[in-house]
Amino acid sequence: MAGVSVQAFRRQGRRFGAGLVCSEMVSCAGLQHGNERTLGYLRISSDERPLAVQIFGSEPEVMAEAARMVEDAGADLVDVNFGCPVKKVTKTGAGATLLEDPERACGIVAAVAEAVSVPVTVKMRRGLQNGSRSCLELGPRLVEAGAESLTLHPRSARQMYTGDADHSLTAELVSRVDVPVVASGDVTSRARAQAILATTGAAAVMVGRAAQGNPWALREIIEGDAEPPAREEVVAELILFMRATVRELGDKRATGFLKKFYGWYLGRGRFPRPFKQELVQLETLEEVETRLLAAAPGAADLLERLQAEAPEGEDDVVLDLPISIYGGG
Ligand SMILES: Cc1cc2nc3c(=O)[nH]c(=O)nc-3n(C[C@H](O)[C@H](O)[C@H](O)COP(=O)(O)O)c2cc1C
Repeated sequence: MAGVSVQAFRRQGRRFGAGLVCSEMVSCAGLQHGNERTLGYLRISSDERPLAVQIFGSEPEVMAEAARMVEDAGADLVDVNFGCPVKKVTKTGAGATLLEDPERACGIVAAVAEAVSVPVTVKMRRGLQNGSRSCLELGPRLVEAGAESLTLHPRSARQMYTGDADHSLTAELVSRVDVPVVASGDVTSRARAQAILATTGAAAVMVGRAAQGNPWALREIIEGDAEPPAREEVVAELILFMRATVRELGDKRATGFLKKFYGWYLGRGRFPRPFKQELVQLETLEEVETRLLAAAPGAADLLERLQAEAPEGEDDVVLDLPISIYGGG
């Protein structure tokens, strides 16, 4: 998820049981031009693997070159974005636009699959307009072009995130291709995941928004452990995430980036509402930490334990990583 799936988020997801995590979408044009921030997306460490790195663009050759860079950086999969509905991306012929441009879409997948030896996968929406079934025509052609798995988020680009994901399309896609299909959209609980898997025949589910500030959702979905986290645990995980994000993005950018996470972690009835407002208004992350620890005194010990259990690799290069301004897929 653009603006969310930083390395700290992916590592946390792996720690809570995710079988595969994915980067934010990476601009092929940015990689082509050696944009320092874009290159920062290619920072991969061993404890987040297996990792998919997702690329977006519209030119097959540029995409192929980007895919080579992604493979060289250590990604286990190259995923191609045919789902981003945001104008800034679609107006360049990338993202969801490609759902209605099958020749180019297939050209991209063929070029990327030819360029790398790791599997190439595609993430799609159902189509551009509401009710569109473009993904069902395009899917089999993408497989023919070399896609080894398809992930479907069955909303239209126009829908953005409104309405429901229509997983009857996922079932239809499964029946039309002989590669694994991953179901994305509104997977928020184990019961929901099981229902989607059972009714679609999908090989896996992808969890997006439900895991924002809520890695416990992954544990519930994967293991059925529905025990809500104690306040101490919430605070310890949030601080761990904050510290990792600071290492990744630097203090200044992390400060802004983290603000949306406070609500995600502290909401869901875990803390009174005004608490989040209070945190957002604090100027430094140090102050936020202090305030959080005061609200859940037991968190300090837990944090220490978590840090000892999950030490960040000392050989990690700290780059000034980008935060995507794009809205995703
Ligand atoms: C903030 C945000 C950013 C996203 N960024 C991407 C992205 O970069 N690439 C992508 O394929 N999908 C992206 N998505 C779409 C998600 O992968 C997913 O398909 C969608 O949110 C539906 O799943 P969910 O209900 O589990 O969130 C993004 C979604 C959100 C909310």
